[in-house]
Amino acid sequence: MLVEQKVCVVTGAASGIGRATALAFAQAGARAVVLADITLAPMQALAKEIESTTKAKALAVETDVGGEEPIKELVKQAKQHFGRVDVFFSNAGILGKEGGLELEDPLWDAMWRIHSMAHVWAARAVVPGMVEQGGGAFVITASAAGLLNIVESAPYAVTKHAAVAFAEWLRIAYGRKGVQVACLCPQAVRTGMVTGDGASAGSDGILPAEQVAADVIATIGSGQFLVLPHPKVADYFRAKANDYDRWLGGMQKRYLRYVDEK
Ligand SMILES: NC(=O)c1ccc[n+]([C@@H]2O[C@H](COP(=O)([O-])OP(=O)(O)OC[C@H]3O[C@@H](n4cnc5c(N)ncnc54)[C@H](O)[C@@H]3O)[C@@H](O)[C@H]2O)c1
Repeated sequence: MLVEQKVCVVTGAASGIGRATALAFAQAGARAVVLADITLAPMQALAKEIESTTKAKALAVETDVGGEEPIKELVKQAKQHFGRVDVFFSNAGILGKEGGLELEDPLWDAMWRIHSMAHVWAARAVVPGMVEQGGGAFVITASAAGLLNIVESAPYAVTKHAAVAFAEWLRIAYGRKGVQVACLCPQAVRTGMVTGDGASAGSDGILPAEQVAADVIATIGSGQFLVLPHPKVADYFRAKANDYDRWLGGMQKRYLRYVDEK
């Protein structure tokens, strides 16, 4: 699918990957881009930039993707303004506090909501409409941590695995009904979420958000499932499947280096 003339919704659009992808959708010829995030002012500035530098219309909708009602409202507003939703980029995310067993339930709960349930709620709100209108694209931002793991944060790793699993399920259930489902799994990207060298996620380099945005658009075009801006993630994923115990041994060494010895 191409994004030309499409109505695209982007969550987490106030900064980083979401911001870069919203702009890239507009530059690639989208008819309209609907921006969603918890912080309105940066989205309003982005909306102005989009409308003054591209032909796309832009709408900023203050949205907390940690609940179903705000997501329903976002989709309602997108449809009220532009009639339909063709592309939904479900991308908002949080890093939260690093850690493992000591982390408390409110952090786990926030991560479940934002990294996992937000995609379910968004799919519920837009996917049946996409089938009805004869097509659409639903792209979930998970992480390399969702295919592999990340030693610094148990809840991040677990909830991003859930994001990958839901994206797979959605592709299985709706891929033959005209909905193109894709899943973005980068390692470190230079955004508000990554400071310094990116710790363990930065070991293969930190990519600019614009490059990730271009990869998202290319994958929507090609129809593939995985968006892997860091190609080595595919090698690590293969290594995990080939010899799980050996792969876990390697991850234990990473835990020692990035957590125990930090
Ligand atoms: N930066 C990386 O290295 C990296 C790597 C892998 C995956 N990711 C994922 O990419 C996605 C985008 O993150 P980013 O790197 O651009 O970071 P970012 O912090 O620059 O952007 C995340 C955006 O999500 C928004 N957000 C957070 N909670 C929200 C909520 N409840 N409702 C609505 N919006 C909310 C934030 O306000 C922010 O604008 C996230 O899902 C993140 O987990 C990032």
